[in-house]
This record gives sequence, C-alpha cells and structure tokens, in this order.
Amino acid sequence: MEKAFTIFLLTIFLLLHYVMTQTNITTDQLALLSLKSQIISDPFHFLHESWSAAISVCRWVGVTCGSHHQRVKSLNLSNMALTGRIPRDFGNLTFLGSLDLGSNNFQGYLPQEMAYLHRLKFLDLSFNNFRGEIPSWFGFFTNFKF
Ligand SMILES: *[C@@H]1O[C@H](CO)[C@@H](O)[C@H](O)[C@H]1NC(C)=O
Ligand SMILES: *[C@@H]1O[C@H](CO)[C@@H](O)[C@H](O)[C@H]1NC(C)=O
Ligand SMILES: *[C@@H]1O[C@H](CO)[C@@H](O)[C@H](O)[C@H]1NC(C)=O
Repeated sequence: MEKAFTIFLLTIFLLLHYVMTQTNITTDQLALLSLKSQIISDPFHFLHESWSAAISVCRWVGVTCGSHHQRVKSLNLSNMALTGRIPRDFGNLTFLGSLDLGSNNFQGYLPQEMAYLHRLKFLDLSFNNFRGEIPSWFGFFTNFKF
C-alpha cells in the first residue's frame, strides 16, 4: 500500500515536472523571432518576408525541422549579408543540431545561453565580426569553424 502511494506521488511529480518544462515549436518560433528582432540589416529581405507568424516556422528560409519532434534542428543563414547580434533567447532552440551563420556581419558577443544548445554538433560562425574570446563551451562541439 505504502509502495503504491510512493509510486503515485512520483508519477504526479514527474507529470508536473514534464508540464512545467515542456517546450514546443512555439518556443523555437519565439527564439527565432527574437533573433530576427536583433537583425538591423537584411538587404536582400531574406528574413523580412519569410520569417513571419503567418507561415509555419518549419518553412521559414534557412530553417529545417526534425521529422520526429517537429522542432527546429538546423538553421542555415550563411551568406545572406545579415547584420545583427545573437540574442540570449537563442539558447532556447534546444533541438538545434546544426548552425551555419557563416559569411554575414553578425557582431557582438556570443551569449552564454548558447551553452544550452547541447544537441549542437555543427557550428560555422566564420567570416563575421563576433567579439571576445572563444567561449569555453565551444569544446563540447565535435565539429565547428570559427
Ligand atoms: C506550446 O506550449 C504552450 C504552453 O506550454 C501552449 O500554450 C501552446 O499552445 C503550444 N503550442 C503548440 C503549437 O503546441
Ligand atoms: C527563453 O527561455 C527563457 C527561460 O525559460 C524564458 O524566460 C524566455 O522568455 C524564453 N524566450 C523566448 C523568446 O521564448
Ligand atoms: C548552408 O547553405 C549553403 C548555401 O546553400 C551551403 O553551401 C552550406 O553547405 C550550408 N551549410 C550547412 C551546414 O548545411
């Protein structure tokens, strides 16, 4: 009886934990819109037209979603002449496995929150104007170009 009650409590706890930490494609959408809000120049209107709430995130330019989770698994904005910064919310894209921002004009420091991107396997930030040291969490990645 006591054991059953313990299992019952544990189940309730796990359910609550799941509900409270649950994220979904809306999380990814908000994180990408936050990135868009930090882009101060998009001369070829890559994001301006496609990155809109009226279109499903998985169909935005440069975005690929995983077929299993329906979450953003790769972002490729390479060579789009974008100028801007990476916001702290970018760390909410926790399903991201590949990030290519090469050959743009991204500036400023990489946010600490990017350390939350624990699925990231490929990272290309080459040919940008990022500042500061290469953060310590870079060591976690198996394949990156800076
Ligand atoms: C995502 O989760 C939030 C709350 O966690 C919910 O309000 C929203 O409807 C969900 N969106 C989708 C697309 O499932
Ligand atoms: C990103 O996650 C943090 C912590 O969960 C939350 O406070 C913030 O509102 C999220 N940002 C967006 C754009 O959803
Ligand atoms: C991103 O797109 C460019 C142009 O289509 C391509 O050359 C590059 O290989 C892509 N990067 C990744 C990581 O797939």
